[in-house]
Amino acid sequence: MQIIVTALVVGGISAVLAAVLTIADALVNNYGEVSITINDSKSHKVKGGSTLLSTLAGEKIFIPSACGGKGSCGLCKVKVKTDVGPILPTELPYLSPKEKKDNVRLSCQIKVKGDMSIEIPEELFNIREYVATVSSIEDVTHDIKEVFFSIQDEISFRAGQYVQLVVPAYGDTREETMRAYSMSSQPSVKNGVELLIRLVPNGIVTTYVHKLLNVGDRIKILGPFGDFFLRDTDSDIIFIAGGSGMAPIKSILLDMMEKGVERKAYYFFGARSKSDLFYLEEMKEIESKMPNFHFIPALSDPQQEDNWQGEIGLITDVVDRYLSEQGDDVAREGYLCGSPGMINACIDVLTKHKITEEKIYYDKFG
Ligand SMILES: Cc1cc2nc3c(=O)[nH]c(=O)nc-3n(C[C@H](O)[C@H](O)[C@H](O)COP(=O)(O)OP(=O)(O)OC[C@H]3O[C@@H](n4cnc5c(N)ncnc54)[C@H](O)[C@@H]3O)c2cc1C
Ligand code: FES
Repeated sequence: MQIIVTALVVGGISAVLAAVLTIADALVNNYGEVSITINDSKSHKVKGGSTLLSTLAGEKIFIPSACGGKGSCGLCKVKVKTDVGPILPTELPYLSPKEKKDNVRLSCQIKVKGDMSIEIPEELFNIREYVATVSSIEDVTHDIKEVFFSIQDEISFRAGQYVQLVVPAYGDTREETMRAYSMSSQPSVKNGVELLIRLVPNGIVTTYVHKLLNVGDRIKILGPFGDFFLRDTDSDIIFIAGGSGMAPIKSILLDMMEKGVERKAYYFFGARSKSDLFYLEEMKEIESKMPNFHFIPALSDPQQEDNWQGEIGLITDVVDRYLSEQGDDVAREGYLCGSPGMINACIDVLTKHKITEEKIYYDKFG
């Protein structure tokens, strides 16, 4: 009996506390209408209380964000000229000492609680929201789908950039979720974007794309974003990718081919076994049209039935071998795409071969 009474009392106190917290939260978070001034010119009247990232999105100003506001990509940086409180622990890993000094903040981590003045690059005003229609879905490997999203208006982007795909709430998710995906089509294709989407087990967006998305569906896309594009130099190019990291490199290669760029380029593509390899024919065709381009796929764990005659080993070892054979007295740039672990390991190999970090460009798909 005493146990039941105690449980009832504790339950009652918890319920009252929860109600008080909810009311306090509602009162504290009622910031009313506030104004955000951008680049000392345009002022936007907005409702306070949400993150700066989502408040700006509500005004159709789209700040780069690969993680959809989870605080795990560090891309949503904005210079905030108003005091909005100290830097949060969640922001610290992504801000350099200079950025901290310049009041750069992660816009997904700070809330709009009062009038603010911010600075953003002018090119962000070109980022648009598109409603696309899925016009084809194809399996290119056991876990990567190639999806073409048709867009009625024209879309302009640079080869190597990405869009954010916004999927509706489904299953246990309560709201729209967005993630970054690099275009695998080239910029001359203006009536839509081709994306390569690798299934991440239990991943919100990739599960939606792999299990629920159908031809004919309409879906929101934001973009273009990103500074992963080919620099205009004469240096030799080392491309390295794995899995869906193929996407931006394919876009860059097709763009180079169309523009007649003749720079020497090596593309090292890492996969575990033959079942993870794709676009071999497409790469062969590019090689036939660009004599200075060489595609080097490598398998880290070839199966007996693969009957693999090509390079074997971790992609880092294969790149290391090639560069050692060719020597380091060559001006080179590195363009890397794939998992953060793979990219970090590749940066070590490239710097060992005298490609300095400022000549290594990458998008980490993590
Ligand atoms: C600039 C940029 C471009 C990108 N381009 C592409 C692209 O072209 N194609 C593509 O397939 N992906 C790309 N990504 C990755 C993509 O944005 C998503 O992170 C990924 O698809 C997972 O999303 P999700 O919602 O399914 O998983 P989430 O719901 O975000 O994650 C579920 C779980 O899986 C883990 N996880 C998240 N991502 C990965 C991953 N890549 N591998 C293993 N585990 C993971 C998370 O830590 C979490 O525990 C890109 C990322 C960036 C930053
Ligand atoms: S949106 Fe990814 S850290 Fe802010």
